Order: sequence, then structure tokens, then C-alpha cells
Amino acid sequence: MFYNTKTLHIVAVLMLSPTMISICESANILFLLPIATKSHINIFHSLVVGLAERDHNITVVAPLKLKESLPNVREISPIPFEILNPAFSSGNPFERRKEGKAGLFLSWNSTFMEVGSDMMYRNEEIKHLMETGTFDLIIVNAFMNHFVLGIVHKLQVPHMYVITMPAMNVQVGKFGLYFPPSFVPCSFAAFSDRMNFKERVLNFIAEYFMLTITRVQWVPYLSKMYQDHLGSDVPDVDEIDKNVTLLLMNTHFSLTYPRPLLPDVVEVGGLHTRPSKPLPNDLEDFLSEGKNGFILFSLGSIVQPKDMPVATSKMFLNVFSKLKQKVIWKWDGDLPGEIPANVKVAKWLPQQDILGSFLLIYLNTHFVHFAHAVLNYLCSR
Ligand SMILES: *[C@@H]1O[C@H](CO)[C@@H](O)[C@H](O)[C@H]1NC(C)=O
Ligand SMILES: *[C@@H]1O[C@H](CO)[C@@H](O)[C@H](O)[C@H]1NC(C)=O
Ligand SMILES: *[C@@H]1O[C@H](CO)[C@@H](O)[C@H](O)[C@H]1NC(C)=O
Repeated sequence: MFYNTKTLHIVAVLMLSPTMISICESANILFLLPIATKSHINIFHSLVVGLAERDHNITVVAPLKLKESLPNVREISPIPFEILNPAFSSGNPFERRKEGKAGLFLSWNSTFMEVGSDMMYRNEEIKHLMETGTFDLIIVNAFMNHFVLGIVHKLQVPHMYVITMPAMNVQVGKFGLYFPPSFVPCSFAAFSDRMNFKERVLNFIAEYFMLTITRVQWVPYLSKMYQDHLGSDVPDVDEIDKNVTLLLMNTHFSLTYPRPLLPDVVEVGGLHTRPSKPLPNDLEDFLSEGKNGFILFSLGSIVQPKDMPVATSKMFLNVFSKLKQKVIWKWDGDLPGEIPANVKVAKWLPQQDILGSFLLIYLNTHFVHFAHAVLNYLCSR
């Protein structure tokens, strides 16, 4: 027989050998997202906590600290959030939209990156980390953070990216991947995967504009920032990025448009979600009264209430009042006029719990329908 005692002994020895044991060892992981908005940090947060719970040692370089402190997570904030916030929210997004400059990225004043990288490379903790850090993996925020590649090169450790939005060719080219602009809409263009000829041309131009501006402006700019601090012998962004190993993309084909992927670009949409907790009573009551479901309306943390024109907020109120659904509006500004009975305005919302309990109600409803169908069937026999 194949599974004789000898085989079992060999298996037992193999299981105790150092190779097997080393597989279970924890790793030292460095997260580099010194520039990030709150919503970007949320995506990284679950990855940090998930890895920490699996006993890996984590070092996080981010502008804000985690809500909970974990024993095996060390946090460094070389660039304070206050420096970044004016840049992220520079200008009035409603005005910019009217001017046709909807893309945040293009109208940004990039001085904060210069100031930020200077602060980061002068930070004593970061200097110490570059000299003595022994990491197994570096995870970098793929958006606006390429000035950290100097650290990646110094540490000579594999690096990977996490991108918190649908990636563009400029981000996936280094993985040997190409998103055809004929049916993959550029993240900054408001197109779907079904574009007419004019839209396809514009989408093509948008992709190539991003590729060109990155090649001509950003790569030299970002390379210079770390070369100023670490020496001109440090290779440029592209050279270091040739070693990149993996991209985790915060999308899911059911919520964005389908796109061709290679195995080193992995969709992880929903990574930051968790099981919902019970809602506060007022929200629970408001939502369970509705018979037609509800709409959660939030403009995130970048749009400032003072920027929304009165005409726009009036329009929202007017439209919401005509809906048969309940509307929960995350808003901390004044509203012109009375708030309709089907609308609830709140400064802060437990968004995941609301959406999570919605799904539960949804499933329950279906379950009830199913139970009815079964009962009807049984009664009719
Ligand atoms: C993680 O940190 C602990 C405590 O500092 C240390 O004992 C352990 O060796 C570290 N693990 C790795 C993989 O470096
Ligand atoms: C960009 O921001 C810096 C301060 O961070 C300021 O000194 C500079 O004037 C700004 N440039 C433009 C073009 O607004
Ligand atoms: C790429 O990785 C190899 C192997 O780890 C390393 O020797 C090389 O220096 C890295 N290239 C850059 C530009 O950092």
C-alpha cells in the first residue's frame, strides 16, 4: 500500500523540518502612503489590520494614525495631514466643474509634494528606517506617492502597489498590461464601456495625455525629489518600478466596467468592508419605516458644504422630496428650505453599517418571498 508507515514518518519529518516552520514565520511589512486622503487611508487600514492580526510586523508611514493602536503596528507621520488637506480641497469643485476642469489632479498645486517630500526625507525616524530597516515587503500607495521610491531603492526589498481607484494605462503599463481605450473608460472621463466614436477618440486622448504628462512632467519631478535627498545615483522612478511585483486595485467588475487583467493586477474591491453592526435607534427607525428602500447620498470628505451653490442644494432637496425612497444625506452645511419628511440629514453616518443592514433587509425580503412561495405551494397540494 502507498501510505505505509515509512511514508507517514517521512511526512512527519517534513512537517517538522525548518522549511515547513519558516513558511509560518511572520514578515516585516512597510506601508508607504505618506500622501493620502482619508478615503485612501480607509482602504489601506483594513489591509494593515488584517496583516497585523495575522502576526506580521507592520510599519505604516501615513499622514493620519489608525483609530486603534495594535501592538505590532508602528506608525510614522512625517507629513502632517494639515499640509495635504488644502491641496486636496484646493478650489471649489463646483466652480471647477463649471469651468470644465473636473479632474482634481490637473488643477492641483503640486507644491505640497515638494514640501512633503522634503519633510519626509529629513525626518529622523525615516532616516533611521532607511539605514536600519529590514523589511520583507514594501506596499506603496500608487497615487501621488512615487517620491517614496527612493526609500524602496535604498531598502532593496520587493515592492507592490495598492491603488484605491480604477487604474489607468499609466499605472498598469509597468505590469505589461494595456487597457484598450476603445472600451475601458479613463478614470477621469465620465464615459461608460459603450462609447460612441467621439467619446472613444476623447478617451484615447485622455489616456495618452496622462501617459505624456507622467513621462514628461511627473517622472522627472518625482525622481528629482528623492535624488535631491539620496543622491543622483538613485535610479529614476521607471527604473525602480521595473522591479514591481503586484498591483491590488480597489475595484470590482460588478461596480466598475470590465477590463482585461493579467495575474499581477488583482481586483480587491470590497477589501475595506466588514460585517455591519446594529444601527443607532433613530436611523434604524427612519430606515425601517420606508417601504421602497432608501438612497444614501454622500459627497465624501473633499467637497466642503460652503462650496455648494444654493441653487444646487435646492435642486437636491426638490428632487429628493419627489422620490418614494427614503434619502439619507451626509451633509454638515446649511440647507435652503425645509427638509422633506423622507429625507434625513446627518453630519456623520455609520456608512458600512447602513449599507450592510440594507443588504440584510434585502436578503430577508427575498427570503420572505421564498418562504411565501414554499407555503403557497404546500397549501395548494
Ligand atoms: C516582530 O516584532 C517582534 C517584537 O519586536 C520581534 O520579536 C519579531 O522578531 C519581529 N518579527 C519579524 C519577522 O521581524
Ligand atoms: C502653491 O502653494 C504654495 C504653498 O503651498 C504657494 O506658495 C504657491 O503660491 C501656490 N502656487 C500657486 C500657483 O497657486
Ligand atoms: C531590482 O531588484 C534587484 C533584485 O532585488 C536589485 O538588485 C536591483 O537593484 C533592483 N533595481 C532597482 C532599480 O532598485
